Amino acid sequence: MGLMTGKRGLVTGVLHETSIATAIARSLLREGAECCFTHLPGEKMERRTRRIAEALGVANPWLQPMDVGSDEEIAACFARMGAEFGSIDYVVHCIAFADKDWLKLGKFAATPRAVFANALDISAYSYMAMGHHAMSVLKDGGSMIGLSYYGAEKAVPGYNVMGVAKAALEASNRYLAVELGRGKNARCNLISAGPIKTLSAGAVGGFDEILNRIPQTAPLPRNIVADEVGDAAAFLLSDLSRGTTGQVLYVDSGYSIMGL
Ligand SMILES: NC(=O)c1ccc[n+]([C@@H]2O[C@H](COP(=O)([O-])OP(=O)(O)OC[C@H]3O[C@@H](n4cnc5c(N)ncnc54)[C@H](O)[C@@H]3O)[C@@H](O)[C@H]2O)c1
Repeated sequence: MGLMTGKRGLVTGVLHETSIATAIARSLLREGAECCFTHLPGEKMERRTRRIAEALGVANPWLQPMDVGSDEEIAACFARMGAEFGSIDYVVHCIAFADKDWLKLGKFAATPRAVFANALDISAYSYMAMGHHAMSVLKDGGSMIGLSYYGAEKAVPGYNVMGVAKAALEASNRYLAVELGRGKNARCNLISAGPIKTLSAGAVGGFDEILNRIPQTAPLPRNIVADEVGDAAAFLLSDLSRGTTGQVLYVDSGYSIMGL
């Protein structure tokens, strides 16, 4: 018996082998879960996610296009899950976006209104919106997670508008936890992950410098790997964490506790 045996749910954000969502799916599958996947709309995107799911050992994966910029696509995804499965046990939000031209040193205060709004829409509003639609299909005792980063709480030059979006995500997580808990006896938590080289991370200004700093400063003198986030996700989505909601769990080699 694995931690997730008998549980079925949704994993978003599987775009590439390096995606944190890919590592989360790997941990969930190892622990006995059944995973359904979303992908960005389009045949090419569907093929990419299908290929990764199959490589993880999921034959004939359940796939649904979902651009979280569209309320209709979010609603359609959860409506399909409800129609096909009745209810689900967990939801993984592993999605963020900001125009990379504004993720550079010295490019925060001039961020255009539309770039700011888009970053918060895709990276934070979508978490709340997915939580809202999940409420109708999540089981009693169900669990949802999302991914945050230290730039939500401290100024990390180059992370810029994405830091503001992650701060909104962390606040949304607390408000969503109240409604999920009171309404459904369901939970939501975030993992604040240390830096990992992924496609999105490549857009962050000075990312290599961020990576280099962790081994010099953090209590664990190394960078984390995505599978460590995957295992923390399995814990938060399993019944082992049943008393925990509205929290941010740090998987960051301990970097966030340091004052110097
Ligand atoms: N890589 C890191 O260092 C790091 C650290 C902490 C937190 N995170 C967070 O982890 C999560 C996953 O990022 P990642 O690093 O694995 O990168 P990634 O590029 O592999 O994943 C980002 C995902 O967001 C999806 N996405 C973007 N816009 C979307 C939209 N409109 N609709 C639906 N999906 C959309 C992409 O398709 C992709 O699957 C993000 O929330 C990111 O901020 C990453």
